[in-house]
Amino acid sequence: MLDQLEQQPADALLALIKLHNADPRSDKIDLGVGVYRTGQGETPVFGAIKTAERILVDTQDSKAYLGPEGDMGFVAALMPYIFGKDSPDMGGRIEGMQTPGGTGSLRLALAMAKRAGAKRIVVGNPSWPNHAQICRDLGLDVAEFNHASPDGTADMAGVRKAIAEAQAGDVLMLHGCCHNPTGIDYTQGEWDEIAGMLAGSPMLPLIDMAYQGLGHGMEQDAYGLRRVLVSVPEALISYSCDKNFGLYRDRVGALYVMARDAGDLPAIMSHGHALARANWSQPPDHGGAAVRIVLEDEKLTAQWLDELDQMRTRMRQMRERLAAAGQAGSIDLAPMGQQNGLFSIVGLTGEQVLAIREKHGVYMAGSSRINIAGLTSGNIDKFIDAVADVAG
Ligand code: LMR
Repeated sequence: MLDQLEQQPADALLALIKLHNADPRSDKIDLGVGVYRTGQGETPVFGAIKTAERILVDTQDSKAYLGPEGDMGFVAALMPYIFGKDSPDMGGRIEGMQTPGGTGSLRLALAMAKRAGAKRIVVGNPSWPNHAQICRDLGLDVAEFNHASPDGTADMAGVRKAIAEAQAGDVLMLHGCCHNPTGIDYTQGEWDEIAGMLAGSPMLPLIDMAYQGLGHGMEQDAYGLRRVLVSVPEALISYSCDKNFGLYRDRVGALYVMARDAGDLPAIMSHGHALARANWSQPPDHGGAAVRIVLEDEKLTAQWLDELDQMRTRMRQMRERLAAAGQAGSIDLAPMGQQNGLFSIVGLTGEQVLAIREKHGVYMAGSSRINIAGLTSGNIDKFIDAVADVAG
């Protein structure tokens, strides 16, 4: 049977890691996959996480199974940060479970939506390519609306139309903050409008929250999510700790469900547990346990928030440098100063993306998405000159 299988292309983004590693040039610049880097180009383990891991090694007395929901202490500890300290479970209407990273959470959320009758996933274009890939794998249709305007802000007309034309069985995929790949988030006023429109819409919102804290801060980055949740009867929230706790390969995430009625949650979550069992049985424990230990300890929490602050500040500085450069050839870098998180789209053509890689050793996704954290005060001028050269 197996010889029937045709060769599949490697994931384009993950393939970039290998291409970059194989490039012998010492001044190459990696702006590919979304991992945070320091000004020295490193992706260190958070100090708060290192300490938590030591505590975990010293105190964990068993690695016996926990169940498909994973570490519920981890799931609960995140909730005040996501949903707000005043009502972290919206009066008992929110419950969660641990998942392998944000991808595991999205997979569960979409599979659960399908079981609940979802037919179509409505998503802004561009979006993280894995969104459509998971939908396709689950046999869900994808309908797109335009996300970004040419001036580097959100295309509100696109999302307005998508919500206005929604049908029963539609799920609306929203990026909670730090939009991947554009860095173009809705403003608070725009979130207010979207939340208002969703209040009267049949759409089920699915909010992908993979970068909380990397835009403007943990609280500010939750504005849109919280605004939507107070306006709609039910929602799915996919959460990732891979970036804001630096746990990438440990795969740490959670799926939260907000139900119309607290009494509906046991049945809804039983589908999440059954789907987890059929996919990975139980999530990996280590990273989630480390996050729980950080969040249960005031000092470690403060240290984590401080480390997050430093990351955000460094990325803001890089964005300011790009914005100050203004024009690089035909490319206007100014809008990047207003965009958020790890990513922005430069606006190069596919040919120019290849040219900047071959000629200058600058690696970015085929869409010309760059990882802002790959820029440092040592390489940013070279990057701007390289863009000007290929987009002259
Ligand atoms: C990215 O978009 O670079 C990250 O979300 C990493 C990934 O898994 O694609």
